[in-house]
Amino acid sequence: MSIRILGTGHYVPEKILTNFDLEKMVDTTDEWIVSRTGIRERHIADAGTATSDLAAAAGRAALESANLTPKDIDLVVVSTLTPDMPTPSTSTIVQRKLGIPPCMCFDIAAACTGLLYGIDVVHAMLAAHQRKCALLIGADKLSGVTNWTDRSTCVLFGDGASALVICRDNEKDDDFYIASEISADGNDADFLKIPGFGSACPASAEGIAQHLNTITMNGPKTYQKAVTAMSSSCKRVLEKTGVSASQLRWAIPHQANDRIISAVAERLGISDNIYRSVARYGNTSSASIGICLDELNKNGKLHRGDLILTAAFGAGLTWAAQLLRW
Ligand code: UT7
Repeated sequence: MSIRILGTGHYVPEKILTNFDLEKMVDTTDEWIVSRTGIRERHIADAGTATSDLAAAAGRAALESANLTPKDIDLVVVSTLTPDMPTPSTSTIVQRKLGIPPCMCFDIAAACTGLLYGIDVVHAMLAAHQRKCALLIGADKLSGVTNWTDRSTCVLFGDGASALVICRDNEKDDDFYIASEISADGNDADFLKIPGFGSACPASAEGIAQHLNTITMNGPKTYQKAVTAMSSSCKRVLEKTGVSASQLRWAIPHQANDRIISAVAERLGISDNIYRSVARYGNTSSASIGICLDELNKNGKLHRGDLILTAAFGAGLTWAAQLLRW
C-alpha cells in the first residue's frame, strides 16, 4: 500500500501589511520587529473574507496540483483556530464551496500544530482503509483575533491557508509518512490563548472592550517552550528512525519567529536546508508548514525520496515533529 501527498496548494490574501505600516498603528519599529522575529510583512484578509474562503482557495490549488477533481475526495479535514463559526465545522463549509460530494468532514483544533496533527490523523485513516483520498487544509484568519492595540502580539500574525491532497494507492508500495512525535500539555495552556468568547466566557460588550476575543501570549515563556519542545521532538524522531540531520533534504519548522527557527536548527546541528518564509507571511498558524511545502514543491525543490523533517508548536500547548519522505 502507498500513501502519498499528490498535490499541494496555498493561498494568502492580496493585501500586505508591512512593519512600516505597523509603525503607524502601535509603538513599534521595523528594526525591533525584524531583529526580534525576522518578520517583514504579512498578508491580511479583508473583513468580508472568512477562513473557509482562504481554505477553499488553497484546497482548489492543491486539487489542481494533484490533477484531481472535487469528486475524487472522500475526506475533508481543516485545521483552524479561527473557524468561520462555532458550528457547522469549517470543513463542511469548504466542502460545499469546493463542490466535494458528501463525505466525512471535520475540523482539528490544535492551533499552530494543527497541520501536523492532521497529517497524523489523515494518514492513520487512509492506512486503515477508511477513506481513499483526503483534502487536508490548514487555514487561519488571525487578523480577526488580533488585538491591534497590543504591540507585543499584533506584529506577529498573518492570514493564510495551505492544503495537501493525500491519497492511498493499493497497487504501490511506498509511504510518505515515516515517523512522528506528537504531544500536548494543557498545564501551560495559559501561555497562549484567546480567553473569550467560548462557553467558559461568553461573548459580551465588556469582553470586547477588554479584547477577550483576541490572542494573548506570554511571549518569552512560549518562546522557551517552543524551542525545547520542537528540538527535543525532532531529536526523538531522528533517533528512532536512525536518520541523521545531514540526510535531511529539508527541515520545515513552524514559522513563528526566525530566532526560534535558528535556535531549533542549532540544537539539531542543521545549518543548511532549513526553510524560512516567516519574513514574508508572519505567523500564519495552521497554514505555515503547508505554505513552505507548497513553495518548495512549486519551485521544483522537492524530489521523490527526499527526507523532510517538520516541526510545529502552538497553543494548548501542542507540539509535533514528523519525518516524511517526498
Ligand atoms: O505560533 C505559536 C507559538 N508562538 C511563538 O512561538 C512566539 C514565541 N515568542 C516570541 O516569538 C517572542 O517572545 C516575541 C517576539 C513575542 C517577543 O520577543 P522577546 O525577545 O521575547 O521580547 P519580550 O517579550 O521579552 O519584550 C522585550 C521588550 C519589552 O520591553 P521592556 O520591558 O524590556 O522595556 C517589550 O515591551 O520589547 C518590548 N516590545 C516591543 N518593542 C517594540 C514587545 N513588543 C514590541 C514591539 N515593538 N512590537
